[in-house]
Amino acid sequence: MKEVVLGLLGLGNIGGGVWDLVREFGGEVEKRTGVKLRIKKALVLDVKIHGGKEVPDEVLTTDKNDILEDPEIQIVCEFLGGEQPAASMMLRALENGKSVVTANKMALSLHFDELRAMAGKTGAGLYYEASVGGAIPIINAIQSPLIANHIEQMMGIVNGTTNYILTRMTAEGAEYEDVLKDAQRLGLAEPDPTADVEGYDAAYKLSIAGSLAFHSRVKVENVYREGITKVSAEDIAFGREMGYVLKLLAIGKDNGDSIEARVHPVFLPADHPLARVDGSLNAVYLYGHSFKDMMLEGRGAGDAPTASAIVGDIIQAAQNAAHPMPYLREDPLPVADDWHSKYFIRMKAKDAPGVLAEVTGLLGGEGISISTMMQKGAAPDGKATLIFITHEASEKAVQRALKSMNPEICVVENVIRVEE
Ligand SMILES: NC(=O)c1ccc[n+]([C@@H]2O[C@H](COP(=O)([O-])OP(=O)(O)OC[C@H]3O[C@@H](n4cnc5c(N)ncnc54)[C@H](OP(=O)(O)O)[C@@H]3O)[C@@H](O)[C@H]2O)c1
Repeated sequence: MKEVVLGLLGLGNIGGGVWDLVREFGGEVEKRTGVKLRIKKALVLDVKIHGGKEVPDEVLTTDKNDILEDPEIQIVCEFLGGEQPAASMMLRALENGKSVVTANKMALSLHFDELRAMAGKTGAGLYYEASVGGAIPIINAIQSPLIANHIEQMMGIVNGTTNYILTRMTAEGAEYEDVLKDAQRLGLAEPDPTADVEGYDAAYKLSIAGSLAFHSRVKVENVYREGITKVSAEDIAFGREMGYVLKLLAIGKDNGDSIEARVHPVFLPADHPLARVDGSLNAVYLYGHSFKDMMLEGRGAGDAPTASAIVGDIIQAAQNAAHPMPYLREDPLPVADDWHSKYFIRMKAKDAPGVLAEVTGLLGGEGISISTMMQKGAAPDGKATLIFITHEASEKAVQRALKSMNPEICVVENVIRVEE
């Protein structure tokens, strides 16, 4: 039996979940792995609020040095959240030769290079399965069982809050703001939901998983990002009529000489495996040249599912004689600022002869051809709703064509990419 001494940075939802899992299931984990887990210290802001967790007083501390500078602590588990001080504490732990296990996609994504470099320098391990997709073992899958593949595509529902909101909008025909308020009331969305609904959280996750999948650093500032705040019940209903389901996806593609990395709402065909992933579930769909296609699905958040991934990482960190360091090419591929997709375009246009010809003419002028068109009768203001689904077209061309439209004749109300 090998005892491993742990220090937890943070004892909130996730730190508390790890504490509970180690206490309740640590004996079983020890039988299965030969590793006995001992949590020596847990860093919190305020020791007084932690009475209820049955955490002994001597474990709680408000001094980070009780963990980062204690030579007995071998693995530091970071669950503080946010960029700082989480990133500098992880850096210090690695500098002191301690392996780090983290669930913090923001700090990891923003400081990936320096954390990796420090781990490489001191030989400490850096593990972050829980930072993408909670309990879903996507990070391990990419790095180990799927390593003999050229991963060409990765599409993920990696944010449970937005998937919950879109699922309810779809099922109930409800508007975004109404479902968001309800999700906040139920504790399924944060009081400030920006990180989730504007796609930042998904962009951090794509930056981490995409870097590993494509072996080329994808910096979060290069990820195209658009959230779900502009999506209306009308878009979802029209999309459904055309056989599509709306999801917020994190999409990564390896085009050989560039990487696509984008987070935005997507219409998927109703029979796509990701289209039926509902509620707060997460899923990642991958295409690799050997395994072809595959989807991993499960719980992307919550204390127990996240703790499951974290304890898995802790055991790996304890068992590995040498810690694995994922290969990333030294000359990263550029992240593309243009890509090809099909487009759902919804506009309000004057219901008059020649308008349709003008709109399709402007699209055609940019090389965009229409695959399907739907017109919904004129409103009392004499405007009709036009919906186009285009064939594959360049993002930049679509944006140019839409910009060139005369607002006196038609107003573009929403544009949603379609992936098949
Ligand atoms: N929640 C999820 O379902 C989930 C899923 C996957 C990943 N994650 C990630 O896990 C991380 C933690 O999330 P969480 O939900 O557990 O957060 P949380 O409930 O807010 O817990 C944060 C903990 O860190 C402590 N803390 C924060 N700043 C500190 C500081 N400067 N010094 C000392 N202690 C500090 C807090 O102390 P007090 O307790 O004294 O306030 C608290 O114990 C985040 O990076 C999050 O993105 C969360």
